[in-house]
Amino acid sequence: MPSSKTVKDYIRTIVDFPHEGILFRDVTTLFADPRGFRLAIDQLLHPYVGERIDKVVGLEARGFILGGAIAHQLSVGFVPIRKKGKLPGAVISEEYTLEYGEAVVELHDDAISAGENILLVDDLLATGGTAEAGIKLIERLGGRIIGCAFVVDLPELGGRKRIEAMGMDVHTLCEFE
Ligand code: PRP
Ligand code: ADE
Repeated sequence: MPSSKTVKDYIRTIVDFPHEGILFRDVTTLFADPRGFRLAIDQLLHPYVGERIDKVVGLEARGFILGGAIAHQLSVGFVPIRKKGKLPGAVISEEYTLEYGEAVVELHDDAISAGENILLVDDLLATGGTAEAGIKLIERLGGRIIGCAFVVDLPELGGRKRIEAMGMDVHTLCEFE
């Protein structure tokens, strides 16, 4: 009999990680389950079937796992956006603030060509700071973002509104309050 579990059912919550007061939505349990992982990849891609996508861009770190699988499914290339100091070539950088900290993300300056259609992927949308920084990096290289896809939305933190206010199509699979 086919499983009726939803993507949300596979995600576990860890209390007080990485700091007291944070309910950490842990997608490793989703990724570890063969049905759960395929369901997530299929649902993330669903709205973009039939659209021209030239590259998938994933945000470090869990966006690499999802983005790599999606790029493979689409037979297109995968491009990482990484935390500061990890990429070996010439980079462009953007600073941002997180739900619990500050950081810089970077993109190789030759990873995207002007006019390419990009699907941006990450596991989770919280304040939207990471995604906003990623969008700015892609747009600085002339990429056309056709969608921003996330497994989890934390609506109380306002990320969806922030990214939609940038004119982006935001696709999420489940919400946690
Ligand atoms: C998490 C998550 C998103 C980001 C969302 O990554 O995977 O990338 O936070 O938060 P925001 O919407 O408030 O920006 P994290 O920064 O913990 O990095 P990691 O994936 O490298 O652990
Ligand atoms: N990134 C930012 N906030 C998070 C949360 N509550 N759970 C998992 N990842 C996160």
